[in-house]
This record gives sequence, structure tokens and C-alpha cells, in this order.
Amino acid sequence: MAETENRLPPRPAWEADFPIERVEAQHVTRREFAKFLVLVSGGLTVGSAVVAVKDDLMPAAHITEGGVRLCAVSEVPVGETKMFTIPGTALPGILIRPDADTWRAYEQKCTHLSCAVFYDPGTARIECPCHKGAFDARTGFVLQGPPPRPLRRFEVERRGDDVYLVAEVAHT
Ligand code: FES
Repeated sequence: MAETENRLPPRPAWEADFPIERVEAQHVTRREFAKFLVLVSGGLTVGSAVVAVKDDLMPAAHITEGGVRLCAVSEVPVGETKMFTIPGTALPGILIRPDADTWRAYEQKCTHLSCAVFYDPGTARIECPCHKGAFDARTGFVLQGPPPRPLRRFEVERRGDDVYLVAEVAHT
């Protein structure tokens, strides 16, 4: 013990009033380390469980019978997109018009880590800028990168001069 104290720098005068056990303060006990490991592994387990059930907790879209009007046809030029909020939720959606008569709608969140995706008319793909994930703009299926599932997809109908969200499409 005396040897250990000899290797430490001299103690300042204030330590006489507020003593610190330096040797103990510099070491982590096995018990503390075990507690740390338990907390970290517990946190990781909870985090993994949340990610695993995330889809089951996803709020359902409330699309009324007859559909929900999204916009006027004239608001979305060919090759362009329009953002919307998925009815009944606060989730962002993306409406895509790849050509004059085709409309697609998806949830705008990447299925990897929820980054906002965007439509690239040059490649006809929906891209995720975070980790180079990409989805097929015709189906929402994953083309590349880490996303584990297709984008959440919705059926869209043009009725006269308006565009309607009609139903959610189950991926098969
Ligand atoms: S969040 Fe989209 S690829 Fe990672």
C-alpha cells in the first residue's frame, strides 16, 4: 500500500478537508464491470426487440371507403412526386407519377432505419440516401442495399381531375 501511494503525485492541500481514496477511484471493481455489461446487453436486447416489432406497431392507415383524395392531377407533372400524410397517421407518404397515366404511392420511410426516400426519375428507382438502399418504383421491392423489406405501398386511382388513395397493398 505504501508503495502505491509513493507512485501517486503529491496531494493538494484541500484534500485534507475533502479526502479522496485515489487508488479505489482509479479502479473499476468486477461487480461494477459486471453491472455495466448487464446494462449494456439489456439495452441492446430491448433495442433489438423494438426494431423487430416495429412493423407490428406501425399505425394502420385509415382509408375511408371510396378512398381519400390526395391532390389534383395537375399538381403532379409527369416524372414528379408529391408528399402527403398517410391518412389516420402522422407518417409521410410519397406519390409518384412516372408517366402520364401511372400513379404510385408509398410510405416515404426506408425500411432499414427510416430515412426519407426519394424518387429518381432517371433510374425509375426510389433511393435512400442514408446507406444506398434502393427500391423498385413500380413495386416498392428492394433492389439493393440493407433495407430488409419492401416499402409500404398504397393503391392509387385517378378519378377525373383528382387522384385518390384507395387502399393499402399487401406485399406477397
Ligand atoms: S436507412 Fe435506408 S438504407 Fe439505411
